[in-house]
Amino acid sequence: MSESRRPLALVTGASSGIGAALARELAADGHDLILVARSGAALEALAAELRARFGAAASVLPADLARPGAAAELFARIGGRAVDVLVNNAGFGDNGPFHEADPARIDGMIGLNIGALTALTRLCLPGMVARRRGRVLNVASTAAFQPGPMMAVYCASKAYVLSFSLALAEELRGSGVAVTALCPGATATNFIHEAKIEDIALFNLPGMSVMSPEAVARSGYRALRQRRRVVVTGLNNRIGAFFGSILPYGLVLPVARRMLASGR
Ligand SMILES: NC(=O)c1ccc[n+]([C@@H]2O[C@H](COP(=O)([O-])OP(=O)(O)OC[C@H]3O[C@@H](n4cnc5c(N)ncnc54)[C@H](OP(=O)(O)O)[C@@H]3O)[C@@H](O)[C@H]2O)c1
Repeated sequence: MSESRRPLALVTGASSGIGAALARELAADGHDLILVARSGAALEALAAELRARFGAAASVLPADLARPGAAAELFARIGGRAVDVLVNNAGFGDNGPFHEADPARIDGMIGLNIGALTALTRLCLPGMVARRRGRVLNVASTAAFQPGPMMAVYCASKAYVLSFSLALAEELRGSGVAVTALCPGATATNFIHEAKIEDIALFNLPGMSVMSPEAVARSGYRALRQRRRVVVTGLNNRIGAFFGSILPYGLVLPVARRMLASGR
């Protein structure tokens, strides 16, 4: 990989959806990119686009980050290059009663949504702290603000991401390194099909707005630049997150279940 004076951003889950849109925001703002996901061909196509449109040096490192040890292997492949911006975006969800869930899928979800995010942050932060410069954008969700019956592990994983990010933001206050948790609500990406939640009320009730990945990325990137600790995208989602956080569980849990239950 060639050296460049442009700041370097590493984006996980860059092959589609919010991650690809965040990579475009970063490239448009003068960053070089390392793009990570399993789908090498989609990453190569995005890298070519970022080079052509923005003059960004974009490298592709295909990896299955749900595997134990994958984050450390990825970091080794970066070969000591200083990561200025880390975007932990790769993640997936699942729907249905927990006691019927595929154990391997649960392990993969925890491994990716929590394990890889934590490990990559641990690996990239020392360099940022030493340089007194750096930003971490962790993609959480409005799912972080209340438990999610029928998406129990996914919502708990996003509660982890939010809690972890807020704690780090405080630990790193005054260090020159900022940590931002991006909390999108329903967003029109492949996530919906991967989690098999096309029919759930959250995505279909009248008045529920589904945002585009581009709008989510713009909001998240603005918050990262402003060094905000947390951003919830969209007014409806901010209202939902607020009430999800303050109302008693006796009220919140049945509503959350109705919003997340699939009719399958
Ligand atoms: N869409 C929503 O409604 C919504 C709402 C709140 C939060 N989010 C969060 O937003 C983030 C991005 O999701 P999205 O909505 O943009 O969905 P998406 O289009 O399905 O993107 C998910 C990304 O993660 C990558 N990924 C999945 N498994 C991976 C693995 N094992 N190793 C490496 N990369 C992997 C995918 O690439 P490959 O398949 O090529 O590996 C893809 O690039 C996720 O963390 C999700 O939880 C989404």
